[in-house]
Amino acid sequence: MSLKRKDLLGMADLSVEEIQLILQTADSFKEVSGRDIKKVPTLRGKTVVNLFFEPSTRTRTSFELAAKRLSADVINFAASTSSVVKGETLLDTASNIEAMQADFIVLRHPSPGAPGILARSLRASVVNAGDGSHEHPTQALLDLFTLREKKREFKGLCLVIVGDIAHSRVARSNISALVKLGAEVRVAGPPTMMPRHIEELGVRVFFNLDEALKGADVIMMLRLQIERQGIALFPSIREYSRIYGLTPERLRLAERDVLVMHPGPINRGVEISPEVADSGASVILDQVTNGVAIRMAVLYLLSAGR
Ligand code: CP
Repeated sequence: MSLKRKDLLGMADLSVEEIQLILQTADSFKEVSGRDIKKVPTLRGKTVVNLFFEPSTRTRTSFELAAKRLSADVINFAASTSSVVKGETLLDTASNIEAMQADFIVLRHPSPGAPGILARSLRASVVNAGDGSHEHPTQALLDLFTLREKKREFKGLCLVIVGDIAHSRVARSNISALVKLGAEVRVAGPPTMMPRHIEELGVRVFFNLDEALKGADVIMMLRLQIERQGIALFPSIREYSRIYGLTPERLRLAERDVLVMHPGPINRGVEISPEVADSGASVILDQVTNGVAIRMAVLYLLSAGR
């Protein structure tokens, strides 16, 4: 089985069958990561270039680990020490990397749509590792993998996404996938961080977090994207935290077996209290573990489809 596509640009493009195929493929790659020798020869001779124009800890590291566990060669490109600082364009940069026979370009870029521009021009497979406020498909896939592991079914699951929805590529990718898979998705946050017409994506909007949390099976907290907000969208971080922060008291409003997720990096004491982040309900580090298996599955399936 393979994905019959060259690139992975967003969850909006993927069918339910394609999502299920990626999750099933990741099951076997998770098994590989649990072995003593965490390596298979699947992508031997292939080259993966991580092209990151924004900071990253989890995504860049797990793409590198995923590629290495598949026996691919990996190059990590940091825009700040490249000829980008001399004015070279994104497309010229990527074309030069492709001229060295790269098979995959994993791109993180502040501009929404940047991976699509490369995908249309390059022979190499392009994987979107986060483009501005647009999409972060492998984050949504690892979130789905974690949910499936813990809750089994997506249908009927009540999931609340909390925080800066307007600037969150994680929220956009997850909403797109979870609605397709039959989950009930609620979004909660201040009106200034809520995109207009978001209900049209099939979600319920709450401005009162306590109301949103009643009956929730899963709470997905988001980081305040101060770097993307331009103007202050809330009077102060302290007030944001008081009104929209997840505390042990608020957690008790949800179902008893509620899961707490966060894509990271977490701001302890801002959107999530340390007690909740480190509680038994938190699956934040499971998400990180599963990111490697998901990225192995994506690289493998794109390679098989080419
Ligand atoms: N979740 C996520 O994208 O984290 P990084 O920014 O550290 O890659």
